[in-house]
Amino acid sequence: LPRLYSGMQPSADSLHAGNYIGALLQWKQLQTTHDALFSVVDMHAITVPQDPAELREKTRRTAAQYIAAGIDPENSTLYVQSHVPAHAELAWILNTITGFGEAGRMTQFKDKSKKQGADATSVGLFTYPVLMAADILLYQSEVVPVGDDQKQHVELTRDLATRFNARFGDTFTIPEPVIQKETARIYDLQNPGSKMSKSGESPAGILWLLDEPGAIKKKIMRAVTDDEAVVRFDRENKPGVSNLMTIFQVFSGRSLTEIEDAFAGRGYGDFKKELVELVVAEFSPIRERATALLDDPAELDRVLAGNAARASAIADTTLETVYDRIGFLRRV
Ligand code: TYM
Repeated sequence: LPRLYSGMQPSADSLHAGNYIGALLQWKQLQTTHDALFSVVDMHAITVPQDPAELREKTRRTAAQYIAAGIDPENSTLYVQSHVPAHAELAWILNTITGFGEAGRMTQFKDKSKKQGADATSVGLFTYPVLMAADILLYQSEVVPVGDDQKQHVELTRDLATRFNARFGDTFTIPEPVIQKETARIYDLQNPGSKMSKSGESPAGILWLLDEPGAIKKKIMRAVTDDEAVVRFDRENKPGVSNLMTIFQVFSGRSLTEIEDAFAGRGYGDFKKELVELVVAEFSPIRERATALLDDPAELDRVLAGNAARASAIADTTLETVYDRIGFLRRV
């Protein structure tokens, strides 16, 4: 089976609708046709300040949500990044073949560092995409399912792999990003010009996977729309309604045209009410399963340890080859 790799940061108590629709739903499908690895990237999370006790908790919560959403830790390898030291080791090597300017052109870095200011921005945030390249390349991954915002990082990964192979001999598989066009970007409910993000400005704009039905209802009913009062997909002129329609489409399995027809001559109220029902029906069972898994953290930790051992076995083999190729004297 072709090897697949993806991951998410444990940077909030809950994943959000963008993570779920843009990534997790694809993972769930692709795990059946691929040899899949899914990591909780705690080493990426600390590129911005994290509270230690909270980070530990968020790491478990993220893993629990993967499983609750349908990732099978028996068939897929679901593990915590820092449990496999090879990630940090390969990242160091890749840092030495990455151009300073090349890393500086990553748009996510440019945006985040501009917001924070140069002194509050860690060097870790700068080399974050190189660590992501190490994640992917350690496992000789062929496919990397991500949302739109990670595409540039996967392209950097391809460049680094190609460069390493040219310099030191064929070592890495060149990975392909897999991006679901219609759902690659879910937008903030209050600010449909920006992507839904864990660090979003308005809490009312983010639909959390672990939200209670009441919270889901409140946020959807208050979601920003427009005054045309017609349910019609038009990303440019009706970003709020179009974003809600994308979510409706994914959870109902109905096409955009079917949705437009179903709500013709009806207002946004009816449309939003049905959307609330769809989102609650999708998220509630996941919330319940995640809560049950988190009630037994020892069992969850045991599952993660077993999966980390599986990941290490693959990663260590790649790292050994890399060390040999670049001329490190091996300890006898
Ligand atoms: P992260 O944790 O920011 O996001 C996890 C996944 O969710 C997708 N995503 C979205 N998709 C649609 N709409 C949105 N509003 C939205 N917000 C987030 C992201 O594209 C991503 O697929 N660097 C990565 C994690 C990572 C990784 C990797 C991914 C580390 N190593 C190796 C793939 C392979 C990140 O911060 O994702």
